[in-house]
Amino acid sequence: MEPALTQFGDRMNHLTGVRAIMKDIQETLRAGKGREFINLSAGNPVILPEVEQLWRECTLDLLSGPEYGEVVCRYGSAQGYGPLIEAVVEDFNRRYGLQISDRNVLITGGSQSLYFLAANAFGGYNAQGQLKRIVLPLSPDYTGYGGMCLTPEALYAYKPTLEIDTAAHRFKYRPDFEQLQIDPNTGFVLFSRPCNPTGNVLTDTEVRQLVDIAASHDVPVLIDSAYAPPYPCLNFTDMSLVFGENVLHCTSLSKSGLPGERVGIAIGHERLIQVLESFLTNLCLHSSRYGQAIAARAIRSGQLGQLSLEVIRPYYQNKLAILEATLDRAMPNDVPWFLHRGEGAIFAWLWLNELPMSDWEFYQKLKQVGVILVPGNSFFPGLRDNWQHTQQCFRISLTASDTELETAMQRLAEVVQQVYQASPVAC
Ligand SMILES: Cc1ncc(COP(=O)(O)O)c(C=O)c1O
Repeated sequence: MEPALTQFGDRMNHLTGVRAIMKDIQETLRAGKGREFINLSAGNPVILPEVEQLWRECTLDLLSGPEYGEVVCRYGSAQGYGPLIEAVVEDFNRRYGLQISDRNVLITGGSQSLYFLAANAFGGYNAQGQLKRIVLPLSPDYTGYGGMCLTPEALYAYKPTLEIDTAAHRFKYRPDFEQLQIDPNTGFVLFSRPCNPTGNVLTDTEVRQLVDIAASHDVPVLIDSAYAPPYPCLNFTDMSLVFGENVLHCTSLSKSGLPGERVGIAIGHERLIQVLESFLTNLCLHSSRYGQAIAARAIRSGQLGQLSLEVIRPYYQNKLAILEATLDRAMPNDVPWFLHRGEGAIFAWLWLNELPMSDWEFYQKLKQVGVILVPGNSFFPGLRDNWQHTQQCFRISLTASDTELETAMQRLAEVVQQVYQASPVAC
């Protein structure tokens, strides 16, 4: 049967961004049976033994205690499981000197669903028919933002400025405040910090500037903190969390080892929380409670925060160091390659300036030497500018073993050498 779809149905029937590429990757892996690929496309966090053990212990505690029936055999409140909300409130008040209460927290089924709720509650056409834009102030950003809007024309991303260190082969994106428009037509502002895919961390000053501009128009700012402190603490550079009346701090337990349980946490002004909570109730009544119950234990005991600092962060920081050292050693010096400053998250972001082919063609070439990276093109959701740069970048996952990372970067360097030699760059 071929059901007739509505505009929304059709929109949601398409996979966007990196999900579409993942299909090609899965088919490559399936078709290449017996052939070894180093797959550096994964967004799934590594299962770290200490982290898995924490979740196992929290589960055992839940299973053996009197709370089990209440958690699993009953419906609960739309806002989330009480003990988790309490643990989050206490932890954030203590760590950051806040004065939030349970009215400032909402638990969603993963943070992706939180962005879906926000995208369609604050972005799109309002009652007067005015299009409220969802502003991504620094493109590239998380590919999942491309699939969250029922009204795709609402998504607006801005080209960054580039700070380039030619000799060191490094670069960093910065928001271009001269181009950026946050005004009464803006529904909300959204960015990930640390950023997937680039590993960029917007500075405290940049974030405050964005928050202040948005506040002057009563516009909410959603800070996607999937990689931020206090869990999973995947920032390799200092950063402060920025709170404010118009800020919704959005976090996720996925990168702290719990992606299967789908726990997203929004912290912010009561009114923002209420809007999203109501949307969530209409959608699914409430988020699943088993993951929330074990998360309450891990946060309350302080162990999640501690493991984030002592295990999760050093693990990925070490991978990044290996990747950087290998690229610095193996990449041809006369090719304009640039690695984004590795300030956080679980990815590295490589820009091959003046690449004599598209990112997709280069991705195919890399597959021939058994290496899979993600072509960068799908990480520019909402960007309308025609910008060559979008076809010159690659996301490299830091979830592989040390040896795999080294081997893959050496092979990458060889392919880079070949393709630039075949068509030398104009100096
Ligand atoms: C920046 C960012 N935001 C949000 C998500 C979605 O995470 P989840 O829905 O698992 O909380 C991801 C997942 O990779 C991400 O990288």
